[in-house]
Amino acid sequence: MSYLFTSQRELPSYRHLEAEPLSGALGAMISGVDLADDLSRDVINEIYAALLEFKVLFLRDQEMTDEQHLRLARKFGMPQGPGSIPQVEGYPMIRLQRMDEYQTIGGDVNYHSDDSYRDYPSRMSILRGLTMPIGGGNTIWCDMEKAYASLSGPMKTFLEGLTAEHTLSKNFGQGILEGGGAKAYEDMMKRNPPVVHPVIRTHPETGRKCLYVNEMLTSRFLELNKEESDALLEMLLEHSYQPEHECRFFWRDNSVAIWDNRCTQHRGINDFTPAFRLMHRIAIVDDRRPSLDPDNEPRLPYDRNADFIRVEDLFVNKPELTYHVDGEEPAQGNGAATESGNGAADPEDEYAAEVDRKFLEKLNGNRHGIAFTAGAAARLEKIPRMFRGAAISAVIAEAQKQGSTEANISILDAVQAKRRGG
Ligand code: SIN
Repeated sequence: MSYLFTSQRELPSYRHLEAEPLSGALGAMISGVDLADDLSRDVINEIYAALLEFKVLFLRDQEMTDEQHLRLARKFGMPQGPGSIPQVEGYPMIRLQRMDEYQTIGGDVNYHSDDSYRDYPSRMSILRGLTMPIGGGNTIWCDMEKAYASLSGPMKTFLEGLTAEHTLSKNFGQGILEGGGAKAYEDMMKRNPPVVHPVIRTHPETGRKCLYVNEMLTSRFLELNKEESDALLEMLLEHSYQPEHECRFFWRDNSVAIWDNRCTQHRGINDFTPAFRLMHRIAIVDDRRPSLDPDNEPRLPYDRNADFIRVEDLFVNKPELTYHVDGEEPAQGNGAATESGNGAADPEDEYAAEVDRKFLEKLNGNRHGIAFTAGAAARLEKIPRMFRGAAISAVIAEAQKQGSTEANISILDAVQAKRRGG
């Protein structure tokens, strides 16, 4: 039998790898390379060429160590230092994305382009799936070049020259306020002042235009009034996130995704908890700041021999506060690190009075059989919601390590001491 129809899409060919497109918009399955190897410049250049072509690359069966993950990332550029996401022990530039019944995909469930809330957002991200749930926890990517291209001519003209504010507070502000109070909110905003980016961004390497607003972090258009701004943002986001612009990846253990943040957005799908999902991600900094004048994008000076670029340096107006190396909130911010054992009252009693019984009950319904004391629960409850799940998971892991079936304040202290390098 012969078929009249053949694909019209012209695909590039590579010497060191094979690329099979995953959708009509973006994404390709890559085979023929082992990312754990010390890859030659030729192979790296081909992977990068495929990235510019397909925007997100997927590889299966890439078993590697954190050291190999880091070596790979360094071949593409400079890793970003520790921020608000917990890090892998000993690797401040590798983000630990650990999810279970407490720590879900969280805010990342909304579409975003990594770090657009900084003046210098990430250029690329390399995400490894270490332990992945079966049949859930997929990730979707959206092609923002296609989203731009499929707008009408008059809309493209209207958007040209507009700028938009990007801020962490859009997605996380309310949770931090409720969970950590005004001081924690203020600290977050001091560390992460809102930034402004062009609405249409020209990709510095392909020269193609992309829509650069996202659901999680873009809050408003600076040139429009609130009513116009809200309506336009809603319309543009709805227009962008449609299946014709997307691809969806089904993870397995040891799958890797490499994507270009300048022309894509992504979101993890939160349909797998209480299953466990463990990923390690490295963000590679872009030393070009998106600008309305793409030929004159400001450049970020940085030390090429450094281990990483500090996240504070990714803001033009440097924030006053710095992150702890493990991304943990400073003591005053969340109340979780309040000194205990000062010779006065038993800290368990001191905190126990404050606990919300419903929260304690929920904690004690955990499937690990670990009983939380009221004191430990009260301290965990004070941690802003965004960080709380990771803290609970770490406390359970520490209790298990110590062979204890009880999670009490001394276990919390042990976790915090470790996080501070103590
Ligand atoms: C991310 O947003 O960094 C990862 C998305 C995911 O968890 O699937």
